[in-house]
Amino acid sequence: MPFKTIIEPFRIKTVEPIRHTTREEREAALKEAGYNLFLLKAEDVLIDLLTDSGTGAMSSAQWAGMMQGDESYAGGKSFYRFEAAAREITHLKHIIPTHQGRAAERILFGSTLKPGDIVPNNTHFDTTRANIEYVGAEARDLVIAEGRVPSSLHPFKGNMDIDRLEATIAEVGAQNIPLVMMTVTNNSGGGQPVSLENLRAVRAVCDRHGLPFFLDACRFAENAYFIKLREPGYADKTPREIAREMFSLVDGCTMSAKKDGMANIGGFLALRDEGLAGQCKNLLILTEGFVTYGGLAGYDLEAIAVGLKEALDEDYLHYRTRSVEYLGEKLRAAGIPIIWPTGGHAIYIDAKGMLPHIPQREYPAWALSCALYLEGGVRSVEIGSVMFGRQPDGREVPAAMELVRLAFPRRVYTQSHVDYLAEVCLYVNEIKDQVRGVKMVWGAPALRHFTARFEMVGGS
Ligand code: F0G
Repeated sequence: MPFKTIIEPFRIKTVEPIRHTTREEREAALKEAGYNLFLLKAEDVLIDLLTDSGTGAMSSAQWAGMMQGDESYAGGKSFYRFEAAAREITHLKHIIPTHQGRAAERILFGSTLKPGDIVPNNTHFDTTRANIEYVGAEARDLVIAEGRVPSSLHPFKGNMDIDRLEATIAEVGAQNIPLVMMTVTNNSGGGQPVSLENLRAVRAVCDRHGLPFFLDACRFAENAYFIKLREPGYADKTPREIAREMFSLVDGCTMSAKKDGMANIGGFLALRDEGLAGQCKNLLILTEGFVTYGGLAGYDLEAIAVGLKEALDEDYLHYRTRSVEYLGEKLRAAGIPIIWPTGGHAIYIDAKGMLPHIPQREYPAWALSCALYLEGGVRSVEIGSVMFGRQPDGREVPAAMELVRLAFPRRVYTQSHVDYLAEVCLYVNEIKDQVRGVKMVWGAPALRHFTARFEMVGGS
């Protein structure tokens, strides 16, 4: 085609109004929320980039599928459609539905870990880390060095550092590592992809030491698309073929269908091993529900069955990754430091780089996310020392990076929304010297970012 403009590969059938607020209204809302964007009312947000999780727009095919939801308690048709869709991509035998990704994590870790165990990963996401620590085990992040430097160029910044993985196994002993995980794409590290070459290398290490290998597969389709674009030898393969190859290397996966399942709720745990599947199913029945619904309605299972297929559509993946990159290009052109190249689902602003006048103990990324809301009604999320600074033993250790993530809900915003976002970011960059740090006045012992309360340094 001679045309360069990338359009949203859908037309809009239903609309939901979003509401402008005044700066004064936002100032009051922010104060009321203790300077924690999680505690805002969503109606006070204009463009909501808090997360890409469960916030996507469903397709007409998904809504049609939902009408066929079979709400039988056991053995419903919807479960078998869901199971077939997940199995078709993963080729994993046991597909266990859960209400979302963290339930799959809790069931997997509850069945495999004991206190003192170590779980290596490229970078654990917050709930994954918290579920590991909850059972007294340790979550170790072993992403390659380039993955910890926002500006470093590498096509697969989510890759695992194979030497560090080997060194970890030598240090703690394979018997204390019940499984190795890889997060695709690597959310906490900038939504960066993992190459098939790296997945194969991790598989080889696991085989040498007899260790099971699992994917945190939330964004498997975006990862597959990056492999197609960037890994030699994959340009002519479809995202579906690449995804299958990724899953062929692992013993199981946890999945949040709120991401590349294109659904508003749901997830699953997929396993090869019969014995482990039996154990996990027992835990599932105890806390989630029977094995053919796992805490979901039949219609949710239908939405996921259709969504898993739609997530692998190439036009969609092209539009999605390009929208993120388009915003990234605008921010970079204005000198705003971001993780580059851009990842699949979000832009990550390097707040330490952008706001050098705010020391890490005053949470620069948190402060920046508040400023983006105050000035433009944009909600983002901090991925920095508020999210990760508190250690299980209570110590404060600053996070490796202070990032503000602008996560794109799937199929929700158009190019003019993205142009507006760029304007807001550029404006905040112009007045960045006025952005002040924050002080945490209350924080829960675990996953504190959801509920912590803050004050502005120097008063409001
Ligand atoms: N793993 C990764 C890599 C994630 O990004 C998430 C969720 C989960 C596991 C847990 O899944 O929410 O369905 O229980 N991430 C969301 C986010 C919340 O905003 O990135 P869940």
